[in-house]
Amino acid sequence: MIVDRLKGKTVLITGGTSGIGLASARLFRSEGARLAVTGRNPERLATAQAELGGETLVIPSEASNLSEIDSLMEQVKNHFGQLDVLFLNAALSSPAPIEQVSEAQFDKIIGVNFKGVFFTIQKALPLLGKNASIIVTTSITNRTGSPNFSVYGASKAALRSLVQSLGLALISRGIRVNAINPGPIETGGFNRLPLPRDVFQAIKNDIEGKSPIKRFGTPEEVAKVALFLASDDSAYVVGEEIVVDGGISLVCLP
Ligand SMILES: NC(=O)c1ccc[n+]([C@@H]2O[C@H](COP(=O)([O-])OP(=O)(O)OC[C@H]3O[C@@H](n4cnc5c(N)ncnc54)[C@H](OP(=O)(O)O)[C@@H]3O)[C@@H](O)[C@H]2O)c1
Repeated sequence: MIVDRLKGKTVLITGGTSGIGLASARLFRSEGARLAVTGRNPERLATAQAELGGETLVIPSEASNLSEIDSLMEQVKNHFGQLDVLFLNAALSSPAPIEQVSEAQFDKIIGVNFKGVFFTIQKALPLLGKNASIIVTTSITNRTGSPNFSVYGASKAALRSLVQSLGLALISRGIRVNAINPGPIETGGFNRLPLPRDVFQAIKNDIEGKSPIKRFGTPEEVAKVALFLASDDSAYVVGEEIVVDGGISLVCLP
């Protein structure tokens, strides 16, 4: 087994207290990274701190708030001095048909999932050196169309575009920008979707039935792809979006 692929590297994972972010934090730590992770929910922050250990910075930080992003970068700078890997994974999804989407919900989803990602990258730039890797978590909803997740899917489509533009803009500084595009992954966030349990189960059964692989993915399966993009193994990969979905977008794309 290969170990220490992130030895000596400093990593910031937004949304690192649950699901894909937490699984990545565990894996990155086992590969030698020094870590900072963010989240909001106090219980999940405390559980992540207990699991990842005292040498990991676990920082409460709202992903859409620019002054909290400034403070986050200040803490990362004071602790690590610089950053090798920035993994932008925090996001919000709130299923609703178009008639029921309020302006506040729209602004919140776009604020966390798109604006927050853009400004976190902007504010992290002074800390990112040569050979740095930026990873953005998108979603197969940015291509497949998902009627009850229209704002969420659009926010992730904006990220797909951003990864291409910033991939080009930043490569001359030695910074690679890429995306991971997960399909259905069984995470805490997925299981906490605010839906009646029978509706939730029906959606889950439907997805598993359509999936070529006939199951949800695990956060650990996505974390392994994140590790590839974080490490020097992906040194020649720029502006790419890697789909990790058990093949479901092959059958769901129009
Ligand atoms: N699970 C899937 O099926 C799936 C599919 C496609 C794409 N994705 C994407 O994968 C990423 C991770 O999703 P997940 O399923 O692992 O979700 P999760 O288990 O809910 O974890 C989300 C993480 O993001 C943090 N977060 C959410 N809103 C935040 C905010 N406003 N400010 C700061 N932190 C915030 C959460 O912290 P708190 O819990 O403290 O809020 C948590 O640490 C997301 O970008 C999601 O869109 C997931």
